[in-house]
Amino acid sequence: MASVILGILLILVPLPLSAEAQTGGNLTLGKSLTANNWNSSWLSPLGEFAFGFRKMGQGAYLLAIWFEMIEEKTVVWWANGSDLAPEGSKVQLTANRGLVLTDSRGRELWSSNLTATCLAYAAMLDTGNFILASASHVKLWDSFSRPTDTILPTQQLDLRAKLNAQYSEMNYSAGRFHFMLGDAGNLAFYATPDPLDASDTYWRSNTVGSGFQLIFNQSGQVYLTARNRTILNRITAEPVPTGGYYQRAILEYDGVFRQYIHPKTANSSSGRLIGWSRVSASVPQNLCTSIAQQIGSGACGFNSYCTRGDDLRPRCQCPPGYTLLDSTNEMNGCIQDFAPQNCNGSRPETD
Ligand SMILES: *[C@@H]1O[C@H](CO)[C@@H](O)[C@H](O)[C@H]1NC(C)=O
Ligand SMILES: *[C@@H]1O[C@H](CO)[C@@H](O)[C@H](O)[C@H]1NC(C)=O
Ligand SMILES: *[C@@H]1O[C@H](CO)[C@@H](O)[C@H](O)[C@H]1NC(C)=O
Ligand SMILES: *[C@@H]1O[C@H](CO)[C@@H](O)[C@H](O)[C@H]1NC(C)=O
Ligand SMILES: *[C@@H]1O[C@H](CO)[C@@H](O)[C@H](O)[C@H]1NC(C)=O
Ligand SMILES: *[C@@H]1O[C@H](CO)[C@@H](O)[C@H](O)[C@H]1NC(C)=O
Ligand SMILES: *[C@@H]1O[C@H](CO)[C@@H](O)[C@H](O)[C@H]1NC(C)=O
Ligand SMILES: *[C@@H]1O[C@H](CO)[C@@H](O)[C@H](O)[C@H]1NC(C)=O
Ligand SMILES: *[C@@H]1O[C@H](CO)[C@@H](O)[C@H](O)[C@H]1NC(C)=O
Repeated sequence: MASVILGILLILVPLPLSAEAQTGGNLTLGKSLTANNWNSSWLSPLGEFAFGFRKMGQGAYLLAIWFEMIEEKTVVWWANGSDLAPEGSKVQLTANRGLVLTDSRGRELWSSNLTATCLAYAAMLDTGNFILASASHVKLWDSFSRPTDTILPTQQLDLRAKLNAQYSEMNYSAGRFHFMLGDAGNLAFYATPDPLDASDTYWRSNTVGSGFQLIFNQSGQVYLTARNRTILNRITAEPVPTGGYYQRAILEYDGVFRQYIHPKTANSSSGRLIGWSRVSASVPQNLCTSIAQQIGSGACGFNSYCTRGDDLRPRCQCPPGYTLLDSTNEMNGCIQDFAPQNCNGSRPETD
């Protein structure tokens, strides 16, 4: 009798899924993913978010979190955009260091840099947050506390948190723009022409002494609160449809903070285009006029000028005689094509 019951129980126990298709459950210590053509990943319980490797080019992978159920597979977090992982790299959940990314020869490329010793499991949550936790569910590390350029509903940024725009649309290295909720409670956007130069501040919340947290709440509102939870500044103010849409807010490579929604299921009768559509006003509304300073690099980098395109995005152009410093990134300034000239020795002008 007992063996019959045991037999039934064994049949009911689900077979473990392969690492590539793992959904839902907790990830136990020792689990790993390898960077290869199979885009291996760990999925959240509903399968909406994935943690794993995205192929960026021939033999180059980005360890990232992305929206799994949409065609664009939009990335919302990454480990290190300036150091892509070569083919065969492996990320492993280890007891003493948390996530550790090594290349195929064992050289360490990145780690979650965990110092706690009580790590029990990891999980990709349906909010888009990847967590490392202790057996008593204390969060030891999470991707929401270490954002890259994107925030998601339910995510909160504390003092000293920073968003860093990527270098260009397809290049995940750090770009010229970032924003930070400073120690004093001011949320400020900066353009950095060069890490050694002073930054241009091009937008600020003016909440020195009172700002405390930047919140992206479940209804899709992004706002800054004081310590007592009063709303000080609504960053994106318009109402956002919630049911049936994915949402994200991102500091884009052009230095503008924008909020987007994407229908969860394709629905052509709803009138909205399939894909991401922008909701709410951008911050700042016009980057070209926001960075207006006497010296420094401006919105577009040195030796360039800025106009607003039909889509309201800033467009950077080089004056005649100048070309882009980096042909893959128009936001990075221009360089002159000609040798410097002076007026010495030239004939006086005549009418
Ligand atoms: C993950 O592990 C924790 C603690 O061991 C447990 O409470 C929780 O229910 C688990 N979650 C899933 C989805 O298995
Ligand atoms: C892996 O991802 C790349 C780029 O996103 C895609 O072109 C390719 O078809 C994917 N491969 C598999 C097996 O899903
Ligand atoms: C990313 O990689 C670069 C180049 O290897 C390294 O200098 C930097 O410290 C890394 N950043 C992180 C957060 O690991
Ligand atoms: C890892 O942690 C140590 C100690 O807290 C710190 O000094 C170091 O900068 C951290 N490294 C990274 C890449 O965050
Ligand atoms: C991204 O841009 C940086 C800065 O210009 C450059 O060093 C790097 O090689 C680029 N990465 C890729 C994958 O093109
Ligand atoms: C909450 O804090 C803000 C800023 O510090 C202050 O102006 C406001 O009066 C406070 N509100 C309450 C109800 O305490
Ligand atoms: C989100 O914030 C707005 C205020 O901007 C508030 O009206 C709304 O009730 C909040 N939603 C949730 C789910 O907290
Ligand atoms: C498609 O959109 C229409 C109009 O917004 C809505 O009435 C309908 O329920 C939607 N269908 C699905 C399957 O989401
Ligand atoms: C132009 O000529 C003057 C006088 O000869 C000289 O002092 C100056 O340095 C020259 N300027 C340039 C840019 O060559």
